[in-house]
Formats: sequence, structure tokens, C-alpha cells
Amino acid sequence: MSALEGEWHRVSGPDDVADGSVRAARVGSRTLALCRVGGRYAAIDGVCPHMGGPLGEGMIENGRLVCPWHGREYDPLTGACDGYDESVAAYPVDVRADGVYVRLGTGKS
Ligand code: FES
Repeated sequence: MSALEGEWHRVSGPDDVADGSVRAARVGSRTLALCRVGGRYAAIDGVCPHMGGPLGEGMIENGRLVCPWHGREYDPLTGACDGYDESVAAYPVDVRADGVYVRLGTGKS
């Protein structure tokens, strides 16, 4: 376990991510996809397990995060990939007055 795991990390300001969008967020050497869907924030690993596509550069469509490379769709809350066994880790998110925080090391996959 790295020193970053188990800790909360500020990944954006409280309103830096528009609803219905995603952006990449870095914590140490890890890249996450920080999503905002229906006003709710969610964070999953930012590397698509198919061929390494940058999920933080994808788009939100119908509540799903769509990989920009080949279009696989992920549930931003769970990291599950629709129609495939491969999923990505999802992380707890806490929205505080000074920003959005993600806790590493507790991914669900
Ligand atoms: S790299 Fe994401 S769908 Fe292919």
C-alpha cells in the first residue's frame, strides 16, 4: 500500500466539473476519471482496461462514462463496464466546502 492509499486527496474545486461531464484528476502517479452525473460526483480509475484509453477524456452519455477510444461504457458510480467483465475501481468521494476529495485504496474492484 502506497502512502497515498487510505487518505483523502483534493482533486478539484467544488464546482470545477460541470454536471454531465468528466475530467482527469491526478493523485500521485495515478490518473482518475472524476465524473459529475445528476449533480453527484464519482471517481473511477482513469485508464480503460480494454486498451488503455483515457477515461478522463471521455464523455458522459445517458449517465454512463464513455471511453473516448472505442466507446466502452462505464458506470461512473461502480466502475462496472456494460457488457464486459472488465471493470475499473471506484473510489469514495466527499464534496467539502473547499473542494472534491477522493480516497484511494478502497476501490471496489
Ligand atoms: S480503450 Fe477504452 S474502449 Fe478501447
